[in-house]
Amino acid sequence: MTDAGRLLDGKAAFIAGAGRGIGRAIAEAFAAQGCAIALAARTRSEVDAVATSIREAGGKAIALACDVVDPEQVQCAVSEAHDSFGAIDILVNNAGVALFKPFHMLSWDEWHKTIDINLNGAFHCTQAVLPGMMHRRAGRIINISSVAGVKPINKQSAYCASKHALNAMSKVLAMELREFGIAVHAVCPGGVTTQLAEEAMPERDKSDWMTPEDIAHACLFLASQSSRATTDEVIVRRFHSVPIGG
Ligand SMILES: NC(=O)c1ccc[n+]([C@@H]2O[C@H](COP(=O)([O-])OP(=O)(O)OC[C@H]3O[C@@H](n4cnc5c(N)ncnc54)[C@H](OP(=O)(O)O)[C@@H]3O)[C@@H](O)[C@H]2O)c1
Repeated sequence: MTDAGRLLDGKAAFIAGAGRGIGRAIAEAFAAQGCAIALAARTRSEVDAVATSIREAGGKAIALACDVVDPEQVQCAVSEAHDSFGAIDILVNNAGVALFKPFHMLSWDEWHKTIDINLNGAFHCTQAVLPGMMHRRAGRIINISSVAGVKPINKQSAYCASKHALNAMSKVLAMELREFGIAVHAVCPGGVTTQLAEEAMPERDKSDWMTPEDIAHACLFLASQSSRATTDEVIVRRFHSVPIGG
């Protein structure tokens, strides 16, 4: 595709959890469409590698070591992204962890860590980008939730609670931020072959699971949707899984 035909030319995105998996695929898909990317995650070597690969492909990217549970680190990372790109047009709250354990065996630390990263992390990143977006009266926030945000899943009480809350936050923000021209979306993937899935469900056959690129494709649609229309929730499930509510 020629530069003139790119969907996100002139835009900049801050992607939390962009060092690997779904976040990396979103970063690469957005960058290929002309978007400058601020890549944030705790593992510096991983965000550095993604930034290098985007730059080698002709895109713009900066790598930021940042733990989303720490509001000061988030504020610093968002300021660096503003300094580099002038504005953040798109925020992707993708940083997340998963844990399979029956509720009665769950420790407070495990519960708290899951909620802290998956939900409070999105709170901190959203709070940090909102002043700029509200000032410019434009922006998009894409929250990477899960099918665990719309249905119960056995042994995933903390994960389900974090993702259901993220979906609820997304809908309230979509309502509150309309008047500022800011769209808010929740993307709810089913099984995707990533490190998170492998560590949480090592025994599962993943031969028909989706790839991170399948989710990036849905995010690209949301990021480039016309300002006349919006999409609140996108459920992207494995082709052979049962429709939610079916
Ligand atoms: N894979 C699936 O089947 C699936 C299905 C539905 C939804 N999701 C959701 O998709 C998102 C991405 O998951 P994934 O499967 O791509 O996992 P992944 O491959 O493990 O990638 C997760 C990314 O988030 C980052 N991250 C984790 N904790 C962080 C923190 N405290 N601060 C900053 N970054 C942090 C990780 O980097 P560091 O560890 O270096 O910080 C990594 O870059 C998650 O929100 C997950 O819940 C995944």
